[in-house]
Amino acid sequence: MPPWIPSYQTLGTRSLWKRQSHSALPFPLCAERTRQYYLGRNALYHGAKALGLGQGDEIVFPAYHSGTESAPLLHMGCRLKYYGVRRDLEIDLGEIESLITPATKALYVIHFFGFPAPIAELRKMADRHGIYLIEDVALSLLGRAGDRPLGSWGDVSIFCLYKSVPTAAGGILAVNRNDVELPPLPIRSSFYSELNLTVKHALNHLELHGGRAGLALRRLIEWPCRAVVRRSKLAVDCPDSLDFDPSLIDWNMGPITRWLIRRFDYRRIALRRRENYQSLVRRLADTDVAVLREELPEGAVPLFLPVLVKDKFPTIERFHAAGIDAIGVWGIHHPHLPRGEFPDVEFLVDHLIEIPIYQDLTEPHLERIAAALVDLASWPEYKQVPEARTASCTA
Ligand SMILES: Cc1ncc(COP(=O)(O)O)c(C=O)c1O
Repeated sequence: MPPWIPSYQTLGTRSLWKRQSHSALPFPLCAERTRQYYLGRNALYHGAKALGLGQGDEIVFPAYHSGTESAPLLHMGCRLKYYGVRRDLEIDLGEIESLITPATKALYVIHFFGFPAPIAELRKMADRHGIYLIEDVALSLLGRAGDRPLGSWGDVSIFCLYKSVPTAAGGILAVNRNDVELPPLPIRSSFYSELNLTVKHALNHLELHGGRAGLALRRLIEWPCRAVVRRSKLAVDCPDSLDFDPSLIDWNMGPITRWLIRRFDYRRIALRRRENYQSLVRRLADTDVAVLREELPEGAVPLFLPVLVKDKFPTIERFHAAGIDAIGVWGIHHPHLPRGEFPDVEFLVDHLIEIPIYQDLTEPHLERIAAALVDLASWPEYKQVPEARTASCTA
């Protein structure tokens, strides 16, 4: 049985480079006006508060979203007014501008899955209307727009580290406006949660890259650890949950994550993600696999390969059976969104899955992933959505 390919990057000694000085790190790790948190949602909560947003304040917000980012804002009592996202993940600047009224306090933008949004235009739009721009870079660490890093355009911006680098968790708030006060430093953290999740990344690495010996070693380490954890009844607060837990609002990024993030080779990570994406797209050319975006624009650092399928969850089960942890992207129709108003968003919710392309995948892994995708496309019950290949858009 070939090794399990997890959904997220793994942590091995090869993932680590050298300790870098603060100024040598990429944005936002090199920025001065930042706060580090356990999760990106905490960063957003504190960022919105720092802007003075709260009960009844209107934010123009993308209808396509995970729910993890809307939750802190809804928790604070903000009113979200939604703009459409097309099925090719593009947004309509005219529609967004038409939604801004004198009651609007902020405009929220998500750079979807590593693809930069038209952030320079959105910045100008926010300035024209005298409203804040909140830039969500949770899915697009290391991305750029022109000669500027993503996350440097918003009045505040938020990042989520564990999506792109092998850390337990980690959220960052960048406060880019000097007249906005930085929130107080978060103080609490759970060393156990951080250790547990970091070790999981290391064990995934052993299995993915270590052959039979790696898998055997993983089992050898995991077995006694599981027994200890069961007996001690320790609980892990895990970022995989989409919930917003107000009791975690003040949790800090832990010491292991802080140690790790100074030691990754970010240039290589961005490069490898782009190369793996392009390599997979090349392998899938002239097949029936419906890749949502074949072109990788300059400045994009992809989080995964977005693929459209007919039946999302049965398809994912088939991938799991093939030892590949594909994920159904944001497969929830949010109750706070009116059904029928955003058909393209509903299309994405029903059909988009994420296929791993992260930095430590090698050519043989990509070959296996491509073969699984091609195999899938040949099964009528899993046949990809026919119109998806060209990523056509509804008006
Ligand atoms: C677009 C977006 N923003 C923010 C977040 C929040 O990140 P975290 O899981 O670190 O709280 C997520 C998490 O999935 C997300 O998808």
